[in-house]
Amino acid sequence: MNQSQLGILKGVLLCSILFISETGCKKHRGADSTTSSGPTLRIGEVGSMTGSEGTFGISTHQGIELAIQEINAEGGVQGKKLEIILVDNQSKADEAATATVKLISQDNVIAILGEVASSRSMAMAAIAQDFKIPMISPSSTNPKVTEQGNYIFRVCFIDPFQGKVMAKFARNNLKLSKVAILRDLKSDYSTGLSQYFKSAFTESGGKIVTDESYNSGDIDFKSQLTKMRATRPEAIFVPGYYTEVGLVARQARELGLTIPLLGGDGWDSPKLAEIGGQAMENSYFSNHYSNENQSPYIQSFIRKFKQSYGVVPDGLSAMGYDAAKVLASAMTRSKSLNPADIRDALASTQNFAGITGNISMDSNRNAIKSAVVLKVAKNGYFQYQTTISP
Ligand code: PHE
Repeated sequence: MNQSQLGILKGVLLCSILFISETGCKKHRGADSTTSSGPTLRIGEVGSMTGSEGTFGISTHQGIELAIQEINAEGGVQGKKLEIILVDNQSKADEAATATVKLISQDNVIAILGEVASSRSMAMAAIAQDFKIPMISPSSTNPKVTEQGNYIFRVCFIDPFQGKVMAKFARNNLKLSKVAILRDLKSDYSTGLSQYFKSAFTESGGKIVTDESYNSGDIDFKSQLTKMRATRPEAIFVPGYYTEVGLVARQARELGLTIPLLGGDGWDSPKLAEIGGQAMENSYFSNHYSNENQSPYIQSFIRKFKQSYGVVPDGLSAMGYDAAKVLASAMTRSKSLNPADIRDALASTQNFAGITGNISMDSNRNAIKSAVVLKVAKNGYFQYQTTISP
């Protein structure tokens, strides 16, 4: 963890302690600025700042923060500055739901950014929809997230596409015909993506030789991997989050399985290679962006990000940045700053030039975009392989 990540973490912890002790944390409970009539425009953010997917929340928040700083430096939106009110959900769905209620009912936010993990976004979306507060998930890819209602948006592609991307890559680029699946039964993201990959891979002539599962939080995958080994797969598709995937990689190698692992965007974390070490090398995953993209717009984003946080932004930071910018652009175009008008403006988002690609909302409030495939190379470096378009 770098200095700024530590700083954020401390701020979040301090805020939640103050909040519990009822002495009041201004960021969370200030009574001086409410809704669009206050001095600032309050936007809620719900993120996993701590817990098993802690890097997702931290990275996303840094991207959002950078975007908000830029927007405010340019004068804000309709003459007012934006204020982000961040709540940590500790990587838990029930906490994400509680945070959403608090942001809407106590902080009177006019829009919400979050979450990353699909299961947590689904818990939030049901509430945001109920209260008719627009919500944008930066990077939740399960279709069910935006199906919760017409106030729920995302700036990323969805998993039926992401599953096809990896199936195509496995068949055409890696020339594989026999793949095993290892899915996380507790994650809507993982079960969904496994299903989409399975159908796309089978439709293109491949065979799924074993379909095994685990539950997030598990640390021992040896019995699943041993069963798998007997079916002689050429790769293992393991669309989980980085903590478990890193452990799976180590244990697979210990059992003599040297075949590549394949996965989705849930691998995108500096912790993946920290946990998995060399065992992660020569594996492949689909993602929203590559920092090797030489477009001047992307390279300037990377420079600014490095200046602020001292690290190269991962895909989550890029998605957080895009989500905040898409929201600000909609608020600028909106008839008024009422949540209903912001919703309508968001729905009309077309050709927004994001870091992660061109963002247009389709009629289901999903963005239609390309994906990149990255290889985990030496020292955990994510090396660009190819771009696959819808
Ligand atoms: N797409 C994942 C999900 O829906 C979340 C994720 C996105 C994780 C991007 C890492 C990077 O659960």
